[in-house]
Amino acid sequence: MFGDAQSTGNNGMSIHTSENNWILETRNTAYVFGINAAGLLKHRYWGVRLPNQADYPAALNWPNWASFNNAPHLAQEEYPGYNEMKFIEPALKISFPGGVRDVVLRFERAATEGEQLYIHLRDTYFHLNVTLIYTVHAAEDIIERTVTLSNFGDQPMTIERVFSAQWHLPYGDQYRFTHLSGRWFDEFKIQQENLKPGVKVIESRRINTSHHANPWFALDRGGADEDQGEVWFGALSWSGNWKIAAEVTDFASTRVNVGLNDWDFAWALKPGETFNTPSAFAGYTVEGFGGASRRLHDLIRGRLPNPKTPHRIHYNSWEAVFFNVDVQSQIAAAEMAAGLGIELFVMDDGWFHKRDDDHAALGDWWPDERKFPDGLKPLIDRVKALGMDFGLWLEPEMVNKNSDLYRAHPDWVLHYPHRERTEGRNQLILNMARQDVQDYLIEKLDGLLGANDITFIKWDMNRSVSEAGWPEYEGEQREIWVRYVQGLYRVWNTLKERHPKILWQSCSGGGGRADMDILKIADEIHVSDNTGAAARLGIQEGFSMAYPAITMEAQVSDMEAPIPVAFRFHVAMSGMLGMSCDLTKWSAAELDEARKWIAVYKEIRSIVQFGDQYRLRPAQAGSGYSAVQYMSKDKAEGVVFAFRTHIPDPANPLALRLRGLEAEAQYTVEGFEGARSGQAWMHSDNLFMLKNFESTVRKIKRV
Ligand code: DGJ
Repeated sequence: MFGDAQSTGNNGMSIHTSENNWILETRNTAYVFGINAAGLLKHRYWGVRLPNQADYPAALNWPNWASFNNAPHLAQEEYPGYNEMKFIEPALKISFPGGVRDVVLRFERAATEGEQLYIHLRDTYFHLNVTLIYTVHAAEDIIERTVTLSNFGDQPMTIERVFSAQWHLPYGDQYRFTHLSGRWFDEFKIQQENLKPGVKVIESRRINTSHHANPWFALDRGGADEDQGEVWFGALSWSGNWKIAAEVTDFASTRVNVGLNDWDFAWALKPGETFNTPSAFAGYTVEGFGGASRRLHDLIRGRLPNPKTPHRIHYNSWEAVFFNVDVQSQIAAAEMAAGLGIELFVMDDGWFHKRDDDHAALGDWWPDERKFPDGLKPLIDRVKALGMDFGLWLEPEMVNKNSDLYRAHPDWVLHYPHRERTEGRNQLILNMARQDVQDYLIEKLDGLLGANDITFIKWDMNRSVSEAGWPEYEGEQREIWVRYVQGLYRVWNTLKERHPKILWQSCSGGGGRADMDILKIADEIHVSDNTGAAARLGIQEGFSMAYPAITMEAQVSDMEAPIPVAFRFHVAMSGMLGMSCDLTKWSAAELDEARKWIAVYKEIRSIVQFGDQYRLRPAQAGSGYSAVQYMSKDKAEGVVFAFRTHIPDPANPLALRLRGLEAEAQYTVEGFEGARSGQAWMHSDNLFMLKNFESTVRKIKRV
C-alpha cells in the first residue's frame, strides 16, 4: 500500500530512519513517529532520549471503540487531515472540486537532508502533495516543523486550515497549559490553567502578533517549576494571525495545534502552486520552565540577524517630548545623552512632514520642513560628532486620512466597499498585500535611509485591524491575512538588504509584534509602552518565558519617577538598557547616578545579552520580591538583580539560591564576604536585605 521509506540510516547524529519509522534525536530528547498497521502516520514518543532505538514505543494501531468512535479518532496522528469519522481538531482542511471537503493523506516517501527530514504524503485521489518538513535543532532540544502543500493537478483547491504542526504529548489528560496574555501597556502576563477535555484556544485575529496573546506555550503535568520537571514548550514563527489550540480529546489524548489562524482564512491553491506554512518550534526538557526558556533563548538568539552584536545603550525622544521634536531640542538632548555614555540616539515620532500630533502625516516620510529646515543631516552630524549612532522611528504600514499619501491613494488602505473605514489612533492600515503599496514604501524609505546616516530603525505599528478587505483583488479575499504579512516581510527585508548597517527594532505600540519570525528581521522588541519600573518587572518576566534579554528593550523613564533612579536603572539593566526621559528635568545628582549605572551596564551587558537567564524569584507572583540572574555561557561570570516593591508578607529578607554555577568552582558575589563553592551559593540561602523600592545588582565571579 505504501512506498517503502528510504532507509537512510543514521545521517550522522540526529535523524534515524528505519522502515516507515523515524527517530529525531536532540542532545537530550527524542521525537519519534512512524506508520501504524492501519497506514496512519502516527506519533510514537516525545521525551527524554532513550539508550536504544528499540526502546521507543511502537506506532500503536487503535481498535475502534464504538460505532461512534472509529480508530482514526483515537489515534495520535502526526498530521491529521479532516476526514472519516474523526472529530479531533485536524491540522489540515481542504475543499476540492465537486464539493469534496475532506483530505485523505497517504505516505509516499521520505528523505533526509542534513538535519532535515521530509515526509511526503499525497491525497488518495486529488492532486495534492503534502510535505512535512522536520528540522532538528539538536543543541537546543528543539524540533522545527513546516508543511508544504502543492497542487500538481489542473483544478484549483481551497485550503481552509493548514497548521504547521500538531504536537502530541504522552497519553493523559492531566496537563497544565502555560501561556501569555495581555493588552496594550500590560503585556506578557503568565497564565496557567489545567486542560480539561475540549479545546483551549489562544490566537491573534488582529493582523499582527498582538499584545493580547503571544504565540508561545508550555505544558507540564502540574509539578514543574523553574528548575525542574518535564516541560513541553513551543512557539510559532509568524507575525500575523496565528492560533494555538490545545486539545484534550475524549480519549485522554492531549495535543497542541500550532499555525496560521484559520479564522476568516482561505487560500486558493491553483494548479502548479505551492503554499508554505510558517515554522512551528517545540521542545522538551526536564529542567522546568527555566530550562524551556533557556533553550528557546539560545535558538532565538542564534537566528537573530546580528546574533553576535551587543546592543547599544540608547536614548529615545518619545517620553521626553512626544511629538515636539525639532533640530535644536534634539541636539540639546543628544548632547546630554552623550554626556551620560549613551551610544545610540533615537528620534521617535514627530519628525516628518506636518506631524504635530497623531491626527496627521503618517505616510509622508520626509523630514518636516518647519522642524528640520535643512533635513535630518545637521542633527545626525551632531549626534555622530558626539560619538553616538543615530536611529529613527517609522510607522510604514500606516496612513492618516490627513496626509498627502491618502489624498493621492485612498484605495491603498484595507477597506470594504459600503462600509465606514474604522480609524484607530486616527489612522488606517495600508494594504501591505498590494505590490504598488510595497513598491511605494520601498522607494520612499530606501530614499530616506540612503540619504541619511541611520543605523537603527524602530518600526512601529499602532493599531489593530478592521475591514480587512481588498476590493480590487479578484482572487480569494480571505488570503489577505497571509498576503499582508508576506508584503510586510518583503518591504522590510528589501530595505534590510539594501541597508545592511541598520539594526531594526519591532514595535507595535509596545509588544504587539513580538514573535520568532519578526526576530529574524528585527534584532529587538519594544516590549511595552509601559516603562514604569514596577510594572516592567512583571512584563519583562513574562517576555522572558519565550524571548532572550538581548531582544528585550528596556528603558529608564520618568513614568514612575518617584521610584528611585537606581531601581529604575536596575530594572532596565536586566534587559537591553535605554533611556526615554526628559534629561533637562533630572538633577545633577541624578545625572551622575545615571552615568554610573550606564558604566556598570557596559561591564555586564555581555552577560545579560548573551548569557543564560535564571528567574530566581517571580515578579508576577506579587510577593513583593523578585530576582533574576544571568550567567555567562562559560559560567565564569554572572550578575544578580533583586528588587522589592512592597512589604512582603511576612516581611522576611529575600533568601536567594543562585543558579547555573559550577558546583566545584569557587565564586565571589558582590556584597557577600569571601569566596564559596558554586554548590554552596546554589544550595544555601543568601540573604538580600531590601527595603521598599530598593534594588541591587551584584556581580558574580569565578575565582
Ligand atoms: C507607540 C510606541 O510604542 C511608542 O514607543 C512611540 O514610538 C509611539 N508609538 C510614537 O507614536
